[in-house]
Amino acid sequence: MPSTVVVGGFFGDEGKGKIISYLAIKDNPTVVVRGGAGPNAGHTIKDGDKVYKVRMLPSGFLNKNAKVMIGPGVVVNPTVLLKEIEDFGAQGRSYVDKHCGIIEEKHTSEDSKGELKEKIGSTGSGTGPANADRAMRTLKLAKDFDSLAFCLEDVPKVVNSALENNENVLVEGTQGTFLSLWHGTYPFVTSKDVTASGICADIGLGPTKVNEVIVVFKSYVTRVGTGPLANELSNEETSSKGWAEFGTVTGRPRRAAEFDFELAQRAIMLNSATQIAITKLDVRFPDCAGMTAFDELTDDAKSFIKNIEEKLRVPVTLIGTGPTINDVIDRR
Ligand code: IMP
Ligand code: MG
Repeated sequence: MPSTVVVGGFFGDEGKGKIISYLAIKDNPTVVVRGGAGPNAGHTIKDGDKVYKVRMLPSGFLNKNAKVMIGPGVVVNPTVLLKEIEDFGAQGRSYVDKHCGIIEEKHTSEDSKGELKEKIGSTGSGTGPANADRAMRTLKLAKDFDSLAFCLEDVPKVVNSALENNENVLVEGTQGTFLSLWHGTYPFVTSKDVTASGICADIGLGPTKVNEVIVVFKSYVTRVGTGPLANELSNEETSSKGWAEFGTVTGRPRRAAEFDFELAQRAIMLNSATQIAITKLDVRFPDCAGMTAFDELTDDAKSFIKNIEEKLRVPVTLIGTGPTINDVIDRR
């Protein structure tokens, strides 16, 4: 097991946050490390009655024994990060790589208007403009900011040392495969590659050190913002199926479509998936809510999962059956 990489298989919002927080508790990694774009991500985590919405801090922060880290490929908004560290009690175990790029006011304002906002439907978080400045070699880095001095680290070194000691490392991706700058529905994509390889590059983990790649699919497809969505349902169809959702970062309604096998097959290929996680099974099959054993599932729900395994030829090892982190069937 030692390194497990978790990425989104559709357009983000597949429920990675919930799967990652489950694994962070269950597998007890010593390091949970985030790659991906930046605070454009929004992960919702429910632990009992508590709801956490995280944009910068790794979703694995609920495991108090784990170091939570942000890799050098991720751009950081210090205000957002420092507030999350404080609000979620992650002081003393949160770390930012010295070479993380920093989002400043000019990036957020540039991201909240013009083409980026109107055409691409960006989240307005400043992530894209900051990554553009990084490519121009003008972006400031975390090591230049006094407010971050207390949490700076050499993240690739910590990650690789943990693996050398045979400790578990959980690598969390953000967004989803078809929002990748290289592999997604360009130009309606985010400003980075967010497939497993890109996420690993963000944290300094080489391909031969990756043990498991879990691709997370929701039981249906959603997309927030603009860009193509095959077989998109109308608002009425979406609500009548109970699939209406709203963005964590922007609050925008998410567009929805049926589970898309063509996209899923390509996501399996692009990420070299070794396992699949399916989330929100209970939204499709309400009788399955809260179940934690595969045998308990209704026949319809079992066939839905078996069909995915047959068509994609990768085992479905984790199944989400409800919003809280323990609503999981773990078949590993
Ligand atoms: P940006 O990454 O903020 O520039 O937004 C580019 C596109 O990616 C927009 O369509 C966003 O809605 C989408 N996007 C970015 N991050 C996420 C995410 O974490 N979940 C879902 N969609 C995202
Ligand atoms: Mg999200």
